[in-house]
Amino acid sequence: MVERKVRLLSSADILQVCSMKEAIEAVRRAFILASEGKVEVPTRTRLDVPEARGTSLIMPSYLPEAGKLGVKIINLYEDNPAKGLPFSQALMLVFEASDGRPSGILEAGTLTALRTGAACGLATELLSRPESQRLALFGAGFQARFQLEAVVAVRKIEEVRVFDQDKERAEVFARKMSERLSIRLKVAGSAQEALENADIVSTATTSKTPVFDDKDIKPGVHINAIGSYKPEEREVPSLTVARARVFVDSRDMALEEAGDLIIPMKEGLFGPEHIEAEIGEVASRKKSGRLSAEEITFFKTVGIAAQDIVLASIVLQKAIEKGLGYLFDFYEG
Ligand SMILES: NC(=O)c1ccc[n+]([C@@H]2O[C@H](COP(=O)([O-])OP(=O)(O)OC[C@H]3O[C@@H](n4cnc5c(N)ncnc54)[C@H](O)[C@@H]3O)[C@@H](O)[C@H]2O)c1
Repeated sequence: MVERKVRLLSSADILQVCSMKEAIEAVRRAFILASEGKVEVPTRTRLDVPEARGTSLIMPSYLPEAGKLGVKIINLYEDNPAKGLPFSQALMLVFEASDGRPSGILEAGTLTALRTGAACGLATELLSRPESQRLALFGAGFQARFQLEAVVAVRKIEEVRVFDQDKERAEVFARKMSERLSIRLKVAGSAQEALENADIVSTATTSKTPVFDDKDIKPGVHINAIGSYKPEEREVPSLTVARARVFVDSRDMALEEAGDLIIPMKEGLFGPEHIEAEIGEVASRKKSGRLSAEEITFFKTVGIAAQDIVLASIVLQKAIEKGLGYLFDFYEG
């Protein structure tokens, strides 16, 4: 008998069935499939809602190996945090590719944060120096928790310095996360202080301009940048990107959306060939990752739908096995 009901999964359901380590493996698979052209991810559609300072991204996907079709809609609203609402709100719809049946609706704010953290966990595993111990984390918002958990999942982190322009937010975050992960988290008073002796830097802010100075980045550092997703916005200074070996989630998407790369390219600092590889090419060993202990490596992710559909398929399957979520009948009789 074909299942006609749709499974609704909350944020808590998703976190119950998928650890960060499992998410990293899912995203490794997603990036390898994406780089090999084995998952279909048409360019996402962007709708602007200027009256409300909002942007809506519509991200379709087709994953033949799991027989799933997906669409994620993620709405990013700049004024939401001040209203006590999440900056991003999202749903992921999953359909069976065999007959088009809807099979899952997932809360996708958490799904997105988990897969974005996992992307940087993978990049950190592949690109940072193995002995890295100190993390500088920029931003103490919703994504930051997952960025931190991801780095801690792949490196033995001894100290984290978190810097947010909202110091109170950074303090609450540091208290909560040091309890949760049993690691030392300090609030930095400035970007420069956060970067002192950092081995790994993760930026997860809503800033439209660089969040640190190039001169504060030391040789050997690995940087993950997730924040900006528009061509005119960025978190990382041009000079840092110019002197780094650069890796991305998707070349096409990065050249279309990543201000961190597009702005220095417009300034004439480098061309598209400065992108060394997609992270999937490094994960599948087609391209090399870090070549020396001194080089700076830079991973920019704008997020691709392959991550969403691979992770959503795994989460949905695990939820079915555990009988998690709420089964909803859209049809009569
Ligand atoms: N790459 C991806 O796949 C992906 C996925 C999801 C979200 N994002 C992006 O991640 C960013 C963060 O999202 P969020 O949900 O955590 O937002 P949030 O509003 O919860 O947190 C953002 C934090 O950044 C801080 N901030 C802003 N400017 C800063 C600066 N110059 N220095 C230090 N801190 C600064 C804010 O005070 C805030 O605490 C957004 O830009 C979002 O679009 C990217």
